[in-house]
Amino acid sequence: MPPTIRRAVIPAAGLGSRLLPLTKATPKEMLPVGDKPVIEHTVRELVASGITDITIVVSGGKSLIQDHFRPSPGLVAQLRADGKSGYADAVEEVADLARTGHITYLDQHGPYGNGTPVLNAARAFGDEPVLVLWPDDVFVAEVPRAQQLIRAYMKTACPVLALLPMNRADSQRYGVPIVQEDMGGGMLRITGLVEKPKPADAPSQYAAIGGYVITPDIVDELRERTHRWYEARDRGEPVGEVYLTDAINAHAANHAVYGQVIQGTWYDTGNPADYLVAQMAHALAHPEYGPVLRDLVHRLDSSGSDGSSTTT
Ligand code: G1P
Repeated sequence: MPPTIRRAVIPAAGLGSRLLPLTKATPKEMLPVGDKPVIEHTVRELVASGITDITIVVSGGKSLIQDHFRPSPGLVAQLRADGKSGYADAVEEVADLARTGHITYLDQHGPYGNGTPVLNAARAFGDEPVLVLWPDDVFVAEVPRAQQLIRAYMKTACPVLALLPMNRADSQRYGVPIVQEDMGGGMLRITGLVEKPKPADAPSQYAAIGGYVITPDIVDELRERTHRWYEARDRGEPVGEVYLTDAINAHAANHAVYGQVIQGTWYDTGNPADYLVAQMAHALAHPEYGPVLRDLVHRLDSSGSDGSSTTT
């Protein structure tokens, strides 16, 4: 059996352009979903899956993420002195979570593209496999998505991509895997990914959703691509981006790569409509706020009004 996965990378250096101007001052990773910022959902998922070494790759201006996870002894002492121990416990619990996950931060540097943060973090990987999770996904699942990916890796010792069935009409939003064989149990052997194909060109009905087990060979591919990127730039040639998908495809040309269809509900929070859906779904599922919202939805439904109560 291969060594289990202990490390994870969360690339969080993006601009969050699709959510501007909401994300001008607040990183998209810090927008609330339910009663937690998006990135805390991801960190909780990783810690619940046994990950004990999390690297968050940030860019300048993302210090709110560090602030959120940093211990705040002064604030906690003040809250306790004021008799607000429930709030103090909640603040301490987030810092404990960060301690359990051993969160460290790195500033992203290098070429554009989603392969760069993974390579930036790779210095610490050695020859271990790592999980890469995008920072704008929230999963609600009985077995955390990260755990489902780790299980698939433990069976195969090969790179694994998180997949979900996709509506073909949406293919231009996703990387779509080329499926070679259905291995059973939701595991598919794949020969690569086609990025954002037109529906007619989509090679399957699955979408890659930001979740990957990356092996050292894929890191080597990223290193090679980054090296070539700098060489091209120094020769004054036009340069593109360094994409994780390209590195996975290069590896898949000669090695086994798998996709794991994830059991659970996925909420993408990277664009306004999906973000609102994620927020609403989490609020409705909350034990305290859920009934209040359900009542509002019920009133809106039956009155056709804005649901607000008025007194005359
Ligand atoms: C990235 C990946 C794509 C994947 C998507 C999921 O694309 O390249 O394969 O389907 O994330 O969110 P992006 O959305 O960053 O363009």
